[in-house]
Amino acid sequence: MCGIVGYVGDKNAQDFLVSGLKRLEYRGYDSAGVATFDESGKATLVKTKGKIADLESKLARERREDKAGIGHTRWATHGEPSEVNAHPHQVGDIYLVHNGIIENYKELKDQLKGYEFKSETDSEVLAALIDSFYKNGEYPLTNAVVQALKLVKGTYGIAVMSDKNPDEIVVARAGSPLVIGVGHGETLIASDASALLGHTKQAIYLNDGEIATVSKNSVEIKTLNAEPVSAKVEEIETNLAAIQKDGYEHFLLKEIMEQPESLKETLRGRVNTRDWMVHLGGPGLTEGELRKVKHLVIVGCGTAYHAGLLAAYYIEQFTPEITVEVVIASEYRYRQAYIPRDSVALIVSQSGETADTLACLREIKKQGVPTIGIVNAIGSTIAREVDGGTYVHVGPEISVASTKAFTSQAVAMVMFGLTIAQAKGVRSGILRPYISEIAKLPEEIKRVLDEFNEPMQEMAQKYKDYDHAIYLGRDTAYPTAMEGALKLKEISYIDANAYAFGELKHGPLALVDDRFFEFALLPEGELYDKAVSNVQEVLARGGHVIAVTNKKEFDLPVEDVVKITTSIELMAPILMNLIAQLFAYYIAVGKGYDVDQPRNLAKSVTVE
Ligand code: F6R
Repeated sequence: MCGIVGYVGDKNAQDFLVSGLKRLEYRGYDSAGVATFDESGKATLVKTKGKIADLESKLARERREDKAGIGHTRWATHGEPSEVNAHPHQVGDIYLVHNGIIENYKELKDQLKGYEFKSETDSEVLAALIDSFYKNGEYPLTNAVVQALKLVKGTYGIAVMSDKNPDEIVVARAGSPLVIGVGHGETLIASDASALLGHTKQAIYLNDGEIATVSKNSVEIKTLNAEPVSAKVEEIETNLAAIQKDGYEHFLLKEIMEQPESLKETLRGRVNTRDWMVHLGGPGLTEGELRKVKHLVIVGCGTAYHAGLLAAYYIEQFTPEITVEVVIASEYRYRQAYIPRDSVALIVSQSGETADTLACLREIKKQGVPTIGIVNAIGSTIAREVDGGTYVHVGPEISVASTKAFTSQAVAMVMFGLTIAQAKGVRSGILRPYISEIAKLPEEIKRVLDEFNEPMQEMAQKYKDYDHAIYLGRDTAYPTAMEGALKLKEISYIDANAYAFGELKHGPLALVDDRFFEFALLPEGELYDKAVSNVQEVLARGGHVIAVTNKKEFDLPVEDVVKITTSIELMAPILMNLIAQLFAYYIAVGKGYDVDQPRNLAKSVTVE
């Protein structure tokens, strides 16, 4: 979602702000702006609706040598995408960029007498509120920001500057990430550490309720209650290569093709094929605690939720004494759900910043239930607030549509289930096939991607002009179908829905006609014949079926077959998901869409 950058140092501020905003482009935005200040405090404010490239052309006409400033990419919440609603917002002496939502902005606006508001945003109200406490520089900026934030309800990550003191940036957070990059003679601000790469690897991650006053050589952090905080400088783990396209046309294709390697990182040191055991250190639960677990709650949104659903099927297969409930975070946070004793909650999030997932984590912690993060972004808020965790280690996922994270999240959760099963003494004969397949998955993923990359490109041409699609699966192939449908709809804008095969006759079968194609996942196994009967029902009604299967003898008269030859059986749906990813990607490319930044979407959903 929205991105924040800031700079104070000896170099050209515009250069860092623009390059930093470009790094944050992937998070989704619809307008952008920067404010820079010269030594006397003279401000240059440049904003635009649209892309950073448009901002760059405007800045080329307003080139300044200013050494301090703040910048922002906005994803509209209050007010349409427009230049006037873009940040930074300037009110009096105050310049502010804001991520998040000020929930009580209307009340605050009514109380702020004498201000004329130019935009429809909640953020401009916050800028005015700070200005009202700043009183033309009579009070220190940090104090004015603290006074204002004490009145605010909602979420924020902010960077604030004043034209009275252009050497200082004040940043604060509650629910929206902010990182301070510590350089030599310069201090950088970003809402995502990737914007800092190439400038510094030393970062301070601000916590909720903290406010920092930064200048080129100092960072002073306090809580809103004025308690001093000693800054912990951490090393940024990501490297520059990981956030570049590396010769691929799109990040999405790069990330799909990276899965053999990214999954290897998830498995590294955790799966042992000598003793056929899974060893996860991160969750931090003792053997005795694991043995007592009777119930798992898996919380996530979108793709992370689908990964949880898939993992739940597997965990229930090999751990009979356990129940698994998989919940959508935005719903669960408002349910009055009672979590039984002996539960553990898995909090699943690629970004580690999703607002609804984070809110669930906090609610669940209040009930005293141990929380385990299945997170990718190192140092993210969820990663820091869970009791223990398993990083999936897939590296930065830049494309808005999640691909490599899904595969690794699902496998990481299955591994967590296996550690519980091991502790409970489930026979190794039951667990070993899963462990063996998990160990083989990276190689098998590579084979499938190499073999089907081109064929899926061709097949996509044939189906790209359909308006509707139905994805179908049973058992472990059902969450996989849900994930396939989500991928297609979010990047190709084709209306795609997923159903469990068994549900077809309860309604969706009525849809089958020439406007639809059906993407049927048919893994070999106990339910294969039943799923095949369901496909026949679709074919009998003139359906346009693409079948994805690992069954050797497959002779249904479907329109297209993707036949995967693999030794993987139990985990075949994970391989089938790769086919769905490639298919969605090539359909979106065929339609000429912006696959990495689909319309209306943002990478990390930091507002409710
Ligand atoms: C879909 C997608 C989203 C995310 C969801 C959760 O491709 O990317 O559905 O999976 O917004 O995001 P995280 O995992 O960052 O919490």
